[in-house]
Amino acid sequence: MSDIAAQLAAVQAEYDRLPSGLRQHVERVAAEARDLAARWDLDPARVELAAWGHDLFRAHPPAEQLRLAAECGLPVSDVDRLEPVLLHGPIAAVVLRERFGVTDGEALAAVRDHTLGAAEMPLIAKVILLADKVEPRKRKRDPILRAIRRLARRDLDTALLCWADWKWVEERARGWPSHPAHWDARRRWVAEHHLDRAMPPILPLDPADPDFAPAE
Ligand SMILES: [Fe+2]
Ligand SMILES: [Fe+2]
Repeated sequence: MSDIAAQLAAVQAEYDRLPSGLRQHVERVAAEARDLAARWDLDPARVELAAWGHDLFRAHPPAEQLRLAAECGLPVSDVDRLEPVLLHGPIAAVVLRERFGVTDGEALAAVRDHTLGAAEMPLIAKVILLADKVEPRKRKRDPILRAIRRLARRDLDTALLCWADWKWVEERARGWPSHPAHWDARRRWVAEHHLDRAMPPILPLDPADPDFAPAE
């Protein structure tokens, strides 16, 4: 058995001790992620491992997440203290590395950043984040996620940005704060989207066209 297959089997076995609803969510995310991996030419084994790892600590009670974060040496902000569930990705990334022997840095980043995103994300992290957000149960709840799922097959970065816009609207509508780490990531995604290099080349003005004539 390859390293990655052994790691996957060990991670999957952990779900025997976790709620069945969480396992079902992870199975749906893994199916979405496999599909996106094929579209974006990613190694399916790495994607499967990250998908199974991403929510290993999602069902742990808040006090346990705070304790594990401290044990893992993770920085815990005031926002995290108010909402310890935000720590489940970072905790899982540390535990996958230290207990399950996962050395794939990009897969670990995918697990760590799947809730909030990050300014810099490898391809696998974009795939895991989007697969987590558009799995069938979630897109049934919110049809906008269906459009984001379709977009993820054409352009992962634009899909991420649309997800961030959707999240922004949800947070404002419900009176929830935006996490500073997510906001930093979002600002970078927006800036990159508007960079000149993403735009068509600037054409010289045609002096004969009255619309382009310099203002008097
Ligand atoms: Fe999660
Ligand atoms: Fe998830």
